[in-house]
Amino acid sequence: MTTGSTALQDSAFLKAARGEPVPHTPVWFMRQAGRSLPEYLEVREGVAMLDSCMNAELITEITLQPVRRYGVDAAIFFSDIVLPLKAVGVDLDIVPGVGPVVADPVRTLEDVAAIPSLTPEQLPYVSQAVDGLVGELAGINGGTPLIGFAGAPFTVASYLVEGGPSKEHAKTKALMFGAPDVWDALMRKIADISAVFLETQVAAGASAVQLFDSWAGALTPDDYVRFVQPHSARVLARIGGLGVPRIHFGVGTTNLLDLMGEAGADVVGVDWRTPLERAIPVVGDRSVQGNLDPTLVFAPTEVMTERAAAIIEAGRAARGHVFNLGHGVIPSTDPDQLARLTEFVQSYPLD
Ligand code: CP3
Repeated sequence: MTTGSTALQDSAFLKAARGEPVPHTPVWFMRQAGRSLPEYLEVREGVAMLDSCMNAELITEITLQPVRRYGVDAAIFFSDIVLPLKAVGVDLDIVPGVGPVVADPVRTLEDVAAIPSLTPEQLPYVSQAVDGLVGELAGINGGTPLIGFAGAPFTVASYLVEGGPSKEHAKTKALMFGAPDVWDALMRKIADISAVFLETQVAAGASAVQLFDSWAGALTPDDYVRFVQPHSARVLARIGGLGVPRIHFGVGTTNLLDLMGEAGADVVGVDWRTPLERAIPVVGDRSVQGNLDPTLVFAPTEVMTERAAAIIEAGRAARGHVFNLGHGVIPSTDPDQLARLTEFVQSYPLD
């Protein structure tokens, strides 16, 4: 089963995700909506981050901003990986310049049991915003697909266990190694919440999903397989039946790319540290997404485009290639430079 109109299904982004020939290499940017855009700062003025994620009108406007400005090949739904936790009543906030902060960190089986399950009815602003966005995006550049997303269980668990952002994820990994029963219960709970968040977006019309396991690079391959992969696999399997491509991304995952693909991805997101030449043979019969170093947009335009050209050329060896940065857009990025990059990638000749 596939969703959406023929024009949408024929978009360069969905073709590349499925591994079909494309007229140009499709491009979008992780965190394309956000602080790098003056129009974003304007509409966010005086509105807390999580409040903006619970307001269909703001979600719609912010999701569309980078599409209007850059003409990127895909939109990404404006929300956050911790929004579903907020929706079920976990006491948390997103602190500007810090990130998600959780009031009562999770450490015991009782703590896990106290986190309620998520139902689509708890996300009315998500369904409503996706529904409106799909209608608007159908008329932009012949049909622009919307990517839904969720946090993968490990990355979301890290915020719940640490209580906030962390470099080492020491408490998270201590729980994982030392209390496997608590860990398993927590990962199952989050996997279910993330799956419902994704299912809600796809049911309302999202054409693809991305599962963000941003901090999975903190794990050895053995520990990833034992403690994390089965839970991410469960999320991806639930989406697998819905007929939309699944992108699976993490940072510092050079040694995990094969395993992240095997978790059930159609497209493996590659961060900027791993050359695509090395990533492509490892991911097997899957497409790749990436992977320009996000700091290269601060370099002279010719330097940036020379590196982008090398990535497009390398991507030709893949089943399909979606161009992106190797992680999110840095807030101080000059939007004009991203506009030049978009134009460069979309007009780069593939014959
Ligand atoms: O444009 C997009 O990519 C869509 C929106 C999006 C946001 N967060 C909006 C946001 C997406 C896909 C995310 C995912 C997310 N959130 C991840 C995974 C992606 C990644 O970057 O690895 C993670 C780890 C989070 C948790 C989180 N939320 C962090 C670390 C921060 C930054 C804190 C800060 O202020 O530096 C946030 C807040 C956040 N999420 C912002 C945006 C636009 C900034 C909030 C603001 O404008 O004040």
